[in-house]
Amino acid sequence: MKEKSRGTFNGSIGFVLAAAGSAVGLGNIWRFPFLAARDGGGLFLVIYIVLALTFGFTLLTTEISIGRKTKQSPLTAYKKLHEKWSWIGIFACVVPFMIMPYYCAIGGWVIKYFVTFLTGSGKEAAADGYFGGFITGTVEPVIYMGIFLLACSVIIYLGVEKGIEKTSKIMMPILFVMVVGIAVFSLTIRRTNPDGAVVTGLQGLKIFVIPRLDGIGIKEFFHVLMDALGQLFYSLSIAMGILIAYGSYMPDDANLVKSVNQIEIFDTLVAFLAGVMVIPAVYVFMGPEGMSSGPSLMFESLPKIFAEMGVLGDIVGTVFFALVLFAAITSGMSIMEAVVSSFMDRFKMTRTRATKIETVLALVLGLLVCFGYNFLYFEVKLPNGSTGQILDIMDYVSNYIMMPIVAISTCILIGWVLKVDVVIDEATKNGESFGRRGFYVAMIRYIAPLLLGILLLMSLGIL
Ligand code: PHE
Repeated sequence: MKEKSRGTFNGSIGFVLAAAGSAVGLGNIWRFPFLAARDGGGLFLVIYIVLALTFGFTLLTTEISIGRKTKQSPLTAYKKLHEKWSWIGIFACVVPFMIMPYYCAIGGWVIKYFVTFLTGSGKEAAADGYFGGFITGTVEPVIYMGIFLLACSVIIYLGVEKGIEKTSKIMMPILFVMVVGIAVFSLTIRRTNPDGAVVTGLQGLKIFVIPRLDGIGIKEFFHVLMDALGQLFYSLSIAMGILIAYGSYMPDDANLVKSVNQIEIFDTLVAFLAGVMVIPAVYVFMGPEGMSSGPSLMFESLPKIFAEMGVLGDIVGTVFFALVLFAAITSGMSIMEAVVSSFMDRFKMTRTRATKIETVLALVLGLLVCFGYNFLYFEVKLPNGSTGQILDIMDYVSNYIMMPIVAISTCILIGWVLKVDVVIDEATKNGESFGRRGFYVAMIRYIAPLLLGILLLMSLGIL
C-alpha cells in the first residue's frame, strides 16, 4: 500500500527509458564527441566502453539497488541504510538542487534555438555574436528558462507514471530516431574546398572511430582514462540522487541487472551516434580543428554549419534542436524529481506542494544564473583552470566536488561499512544471476573509490 502511494513505474521498459532519459543529455551531445575527437578517437571509445561495463555498471547497480531496497528518495535513503551515514543523503539531494537552476537556463537556450530554426531564422543564429547577444540579454533568457522549468514542473507534478514514465516513453524513441537520421545525413555530406579538394563526412568519421595511438605514452593514456571516467560519471547521472529516486519507483519484480545493462547500452549508443552526427559535419565545414565542446559547439559552431547547408540547414537545425530539447527535458525532469521526492519523503509533503516549492526555488536561483551574464557579471578563476560565471561555479561545485564525494562515500558505505550483499541481494532478489560478482566487489571496495579520489584531486587542481 505504501509503495503504491509513492508511485511506481508500470514496468521495466518505463524504468529503463526514464533512467536512459536522465542519462542521455547535453553531455552526450556536446561533450562526448569533442572528447573522443581529441583523445585518440577509437582509443577513447574503447576505454569509455570498458569503463561503462565496469565502473558504470558498479555505480548504477549500487544506486538503483539503494533506491529500490529503501523505497526512499536520496535525502532519506542513506539514513535508512545507516543512521550515521545519513549525511550522504543531504549531499545527494543538494547536488540536483544546485544543478536544476542552471540546467533550466541552458534548457531555455535550447528552446530559443529550436524556435529560431523552426521559424526559418536559423541564418541569424549563425552570425558572430548572436549567442553572446542572446545570453547577455535581460528578458529573453529569463522567459525561455521559465518555459523550460515550467515544462519540467508539469511533468513532475503529473507523477511517476503519468508524468515521468509517459514522457520518457514518447520522447526517447523519437529522440533516438532523430539522432540516427541526422547521423546518417552527416555521413553523406561532401564539399569541395576553394582549393578544389573534396572533403567528405566519411573522412570525418575516421577521426572518431579509428584509434590513434601515436604519441600516446603512459601519461597521455592516463589523461584519456580520466577524461573518459569524468564523462561517464556525468553521463550516467551517477551521484545526483536521481538513480536512487528512480530506483525507488522500480517494480520489485523487474530485472535490475538487465535494466542496468540496457541503460548503459542506450546511453553509450546515443553518445556514439552523437559523435557520428557532429564530428563528420564539423570536419567537412570547419576542418579537424573546428571541434569544440560545451555551449560554443552547440550554439555557435553548429548553427554556422547549418547555415552553410542552405535551405536544408533549417530543417536539419530544427530536427537537431528538437532532439537536444528532448534530451534536456528528460534530464531536467529527473533532476527535479530527485529534489521533489526528497521533499516529499523527508517533510511528508504532497507531490503538488513539493513541486511548487522546488519550482519557486529553482526559479529564484535560475534568475541569478541568467543575471550572471548581465547585472551580476563577474569572472572567477576555478581551481580546475577554467574561468566562469555563476553558472560555471554552480556546475563546478556540484559536478566536480560534490558528486565525487557522494560517489566515494557511497562506495565506502556499501563496500566496507554495510558489505556488498546489501546491493547484490537486492539486485538478485528474483533469482537473477549476478555474473560479475567478484568484479563488483573489487570495483566498489578498491578500484572505484581510488579512481574517483584521483578525479576529485584533479578537479581540485591538486593533481
Ligand atoms: N547525464 C546527463 C548528460 O549526459 C546530464 C545530467 C546532468 C542529467 C544533470 C541529469 C542531471 O548530459
